[in-house]
Amino acid sequence: MPELMVTTRDQRDHVLAAEPGLSVMEIIRDGGFDELLAMCGGSCSCATCHVYVGPEDWQRLEPLSEDESDLLDSSEHRTQYSRLSCQIRFAEALNGLSVTIAPED
Ligand code: FES
Repeated sequence: MPELMVTTRDQRDHVLAAEPGLSVMEIIRDGGFDELLAMCGGSCSCATCHVYVGPEDWQRLEPLSEDESDLLDSSEHRTQYSRLSCQIRFAEALNGLSVTIAPED
């Protein structure tokens, strides 16, 4: 099973088994990390699934959509590596992807 590396807000690193086809948000939630609120359930309308992608991994992802970018603009913690984890579909090719859960807005 491919793996997803997650850094939680307490700066701890975790390695999660990542099932291809699930979103990164679903993998994190299924891993038991409830600090990722994901309040809208993945419909790209809440921004509470905000993560920072490891800079070295940024180019491995599909570009973000205009809707995702607009929603991220509502976060005061947006950086150049911000993504909404519900909008990243995990795939075998993303094995080892590293994300950090962003601070709560
Ligand atoms: S879960 Fe709401 S935008 Fe991702």
